[in-house]
Amino acid sequence: MHFEERLIEYFKWFHKNPELSYEEYATTAKIKEILTQEGVEILPCTLETGLVAIIRGAKKGPVQALRCDIDALPIREETGLSYASEHDGKMHACGHDLHIVVGIGCAVLLNKKREQLEGTVKIIFQPAEESSLGALKILETDIMSDVERIWGIHADPTNDAGTIGIREGAVTAAVDRFVVTVKGEGCHGAHPDDGRDPIPAAASMIQAFQTIVTRNVNAFHPALLSVTRIEAGNTWNVIPESAQMEGTVRTMDKKDRSLFEQRLKEIAEYTAMSYGMTAEVQWIAGPPATVNDAKMVSISMEKAVKLGFKVVPEESSMGGDDFAFLEEKIPGCYLKVGTGRGQLIHQPGFMVDPEVIMPTVKYVAELLIKN
Ligand code: NI
Repeated sequence: MHFEERLIEYFKWFHKNPELSYEEYATTAKIKEILTQEGVEILPCTLETGLVAIIRGAKKGPVQALRCDIDALPIREETGLSYASEHDGKMHACGHDLHIVVGIGCAVLLNKKREQLEGTVKIIFQPAEESSLGALKILETDIMSDVERIWGIHADPTNDAGTIGIREGAVTAAVDRFVVTVKGEGCHGAHPDDGRDPIPAAASMIQAFQTIVTRNVNAFHPALLSVTRIEAGNTWNVIPESAQMEGTVRTMDKKDRSLFEQRLKEIAEYTAMSYGMTAEVQWIAGPPATVNDAKMVSISMEKAVKLGFKVVPEESSMGGDDFAFLEEKIPGCYLKVGTGRGQLIHQPGFMVDPEVIMPTVKYVAELLIKN
């Protein structure tokens, strides 16, 4: 079977066999089996799921990495494809099946072209991107210790096949989570004067939190805060002792990120104090923003045009990607691969046009082979 046909067959296998974050055992075994058959070296490492292929070029050059995430989502597929998910309630609805085969394809192609390859390439098949913390599994090993530059790709159903979305600067947001607990004093619903009602204090905080976006952050900086869960009390005639709310903050700028953390705490604590109670704020930091390196952006544009892709400005997103953890200390570039217009990622009808596989493999291999 021809290389491209093999890649499409592999893609269909991964699409049929989705596995959730941290459970990618069959996926890992399959990638390993394919890479071994194709003669690609696998780096020994201690990852429980996921693996790393390594291609050592004959010419001198940097150590570069390509991150391919491999996990699927808990979504029941509704595509009607002949190779639809065989695992009920699980689906490759974020295109990570495409990312896997692009990684495999690049590994095979670069391995064949080792004589022309400048430097070393590590293809990182990363687990658990959807948990937003899978990249930390990679950082627990020494896989990234010698990597000087990292590339990432993501399927993009808002663009036609044959399109690459590229943007310099921030492309995905820092993803932080907060939990605020307001502590009052419970009492009878008819006698609020006997206690301290945490509900008006919580309501007041929710209003005031939005002023961080409108009054504290530079109006030209994208940023948002969403309170997504609020919980207090359990019946109609008792004032509860406490109220709790939870939510997320998304920012593109490091300073804005710490500004949010500081203002959120101030608003919660001082508002609580003004109502005669206390508030406790937990700030749970997720991945930082993904920021595309200017030089890598210009390389990726030039090579996309050379290979006949249509280059469009990549939309930045308030969504996050744990790729950001990997590129926090080294230059990185995260590119969007048009997969044919249709349902969006994380939707049950999301589909990748298999025609995009081979051109994407050739493109990404081109980015990695010579610098
Ligand atoms: Ni994804």
